Parts: sequence; structure tokens; C-alpha cells
Amino acid sequence: MSDQWARIGLDLHLRIDRARGLRGGLEHALREAVRSGRLSPGNRLPSSRVLALELGVARGTVTQVYEQLTAEGFLTSRPRSGVRVAPRPGAAPGPVLPPAPSFRPPVDGFDLRPGLPDLATFPRREWLAATRQVLQSAPHSVFGYGDPTGHADLRQALAEYLGRSRGVITTPEHIIVCAGYTHALRIVCRALSRAGASIAFEDPALPDYPAMAAEIGLRVEHIAVDQAGLVVGALGDAAAAVVTPAHQFPLGVTLAPQRRLQLLDWARRNGSLVVEDDYDGEFRYDRQPVGALQALAPGDVVYAGTVSKSVAPALRIAWLAAPTRVVPALREALRHDEAHVNVIDQLVLAHLIRRGDLDRHLRRCRARYRHRRDHLGRVVAARLPGARLSGIAAGLHAVLHLPGPARDEARLLDRLRENGVAVDGLSTFYHRPEEAPLGVVIGYATPQQHEYESAVDALVEAAGA
Ligand SMILES: Cc1ncc(COP(=O)(O)O)c(C=O)c1O
Repeated sequence: MSDQWARIGLDLHLRIDRARGLRGGLEHALREAVRSGRLSPGNRLPSSRVLALELGVARGTVTQVYEQLTAEGFLTSRPRSGVRVAPRPGAAPGPVLPPAPSFRPPVDGFDLRPGLPDLATFPRREWLAATRQVLQSAPHSVFGYGDPTGHADLRQALAEYLGRSRGVITTPEHIIVCAGYTHALRIVCRALSRAGASIAFEDPALPDYPAMAAEIGLRVEHIAVDQAGLVVGALGDAAAAVVTPAHQFPLGVTLAPQRRLQLLDWARRNGSLVVEDDYDGEFRYDRQPVGALQALAPGDVVYAGTVSKSVAPALRIAWLAAPTRVVPALREALRHDEAHVNVIDQLVLAHLIRRGDLDRHLRRCRARYRHRRDHLGRVVAARLPGARLSGIAAGLHAVLHLPGPARDEARLLDRLRENGVAVDGLSTFYHRPEEAPLGVVIGYATPQQHEYESAVDALVEAAGA
């Protein structure tokens, strides 16, 4: 039996079994390619002339094969669109798998869950213009494997930007670009991971982060948060404490000046690290911006930022500004980690920072979110006596505290759902959910602009019922 591999115009290799004869072998090979799905419905086949040349057979042989397979329903042939693989109405489906679990399953009705910016604000025009500029001017080398710690241009732009906007004291060499904060925290946890090491998280907090640290092998401590932020006195000898000092997630309190000093003192005495999650630090409405904690102790604080609130979570771009003593361990933790950020996107972000486009974008967003926050505050004050909003000085979310026992949360969430409103119950974020006060976390940036007021109406109506 002699057989031959033939390449057709599509990147498909046909195995022609010449023992079946030229015509029979080609017919069989094409039938098998269609049956197995290697050739999909709509795929265009090469012209009979091209395929004949490629296979070294007479053109008439290919024409006859095409005619035969068209008659059998495998192919279709039209005057100007050539020969294509026919649709397969009764094709056997592949193995059925459930969809991958979604990080944020969509909801019906108004989405007031925290975690997203208004996605309609994405600076499409600026991103497009910057992408064109980057692709026109970048050297060929950017299309190779990038620096695992991030492209030097972005690290340089970030070092300047973070210094100017958040008071962060750093250099490009201390910055590591990560694929989102979750990735950044994973790298930190890996760098800290050694026998018996523990890491402290605020309680309440987003539960995914302590869960990830535990999975990496760290012991997790849950430290309470009060009106002044993390209760620093409760910290033990953890290798690191992860905090959200500018706008605690989810309660929204700011870490009080005295607590900041106390926390840094704890880190210094224990040789521990503070991980500062500055996830929404760009958005401050009432007072002077609260500067980064990192500025007070650049040798003990790993500062983390992200574009997930300021631009869009889809970009998966975040950064760490780390103390010198931690950089080698972080680089080591990155060694077998291929979650690098697309280099073109890194250069685009660097371009937007340098041109001032990011600042302009943030100013527009701040005005929009301040408006929304004020509206929420007015409606709650007018229609929900006894309720209280917290965490409204900054960020994109607030907590609506309601009178009543914590056990009423499930009923409250049901009422909201029935009224077409999705929010997160406060208990979701507590290590011991039964200890949570009654309240819901409201992401006021999430709904589209035109539906925002209706969303707040529906929220308040159900919450007050
Ligand atoms: C507390 C907190 N930190 C960080 C982030 C950002 O995460 P990422 O950069 O992985 O999107 C979020 C996003 O919701 C958050 O709520």
C-alpha cells in the first residue's frame, strides 16, 4: 500500500491511500476529513486545478471526486464560491461538558453586585489609537517572549504614575506586572510559602484570597476590622498581613492614621510584610486622596494595584511595587509562571499613562461615580429611615446597613431578587458568616448609566419592604 500526505490550501493534511487508486484514495481521505470534523462545514476546498497540481494527479480526477462527494452530500459547489464542506444537520455532537464555572455568573435584572466598573466607560477610542501607535512604532523584538516582570516601558511609566498619583516610593526594578491582583497575590503567597508560615487577612474580606493562600500552603489568620480598619493588636506572627487601607473591602472604612503606624510597627518588629491592596485607590470623592501606606515604609510594604476598577477587569493588568528584600523571591516565584500580560497591552497602557489619557479617563469616571454615589445617598436617606450607608467616601461600592438581626439576610436577599435586584449579602465576606451584621454590599458602578436610577429605586423599594 502506498500512501501520500497531501496539503491542501487550508492547513489540513490529507492521507491518501493509493492502494484504493488515485480517485478512490482521495475520495476516502476527504470523506474521512469531513466525518471526523477536521474539515468543518463552510471550509473552502482548493480549486480542482490547485489540488491536482499539489497531488500530482490529473485535474479530471479531482473534478470527479468533487462531483462524487457533492452528490453524496459531503460537499457543496456553487459558481462563485467554489467547493465547500456542506453543512451537517445531523452531525453527531462532541462530548457534552457543562460550561466552565463563571467567576461572576450573569444575573437577571439590575446588577448592583460589587466588583465591576461601568464597562461602558472603557476608553475605546484612546485604547485603539494607542494600539495603532504602539504597533507602528514598536521594534520587532516586542513580539518575542517578554520580560516576566513586565515590559520595561510599563514598569517605568507605572513607577512615575504611582509616585505622582498615590505617593508610592518605587523604581521600575521594584515593579512586577501581573495578570490581575489575584495573580499578584498568588506570586506573593508563593514567595512567602515555607513550612509553617502564615498570612493574615482582614475579616471581612473577599473570601477567594484567603482560600487561594490556603491552597498554596499558608496558614490563614482572619483578623477583625472595626471602624478604624484592621484591629492591628490582634495580629500574631504572620509572615504577611493583607490589607485594603484606603477603602476596606467590603466595609469601606479607611485605616486610621494611628492604626497605620501600629501596623507598620508590627511589620518592622516581626520582620513581616504588609501587602497593601490598593484596588480602588484612584476613586476618592470627599476628602483629599488617602496616600498609599507604602509611602510610609517602602521596605516593609508590598504595594499592589490593578486596572480592574480604573479601566477594565478584562485587561488583566495589575502590578506590585515590592521592597528590595522581597524582589528576588517574587522573581523566583514567577519563574515557572506563564501568566504574563500581553506585551502589546502593556505598551498600550504605558502609552496612555504617558500621554495623560489615563488621568483624563479617571477624571471622567470619578465624576460619573460621584454622581451615582450622591444619588444613592439621597435616595437611601429619603426612603430608608433607620438604614445607614458606609464606605461612600471612596471606591465603587458602599455597604447598606439595615436594622434587624443578621439572620434576616437571606429573606432580605430573596426580596431583592424578587424585585429584580442582585447585590451581595454582607455575610458572604465574613469568615464566620453568622457574625455578620445585617447589610448588603452595593456596587454602584455596575449598572448601565440609563438604568442606574431605576436600579436604586428597585433596591430601596425591596430593602424597605
Ligand atoms: C478587594 C479587591 N482587591 C482586588 C481586586 C482586583 O482584582 P483583579 O485585579 O484580579 O481583577 C478586587 C476586584 O474585585 C477586589 O475586590
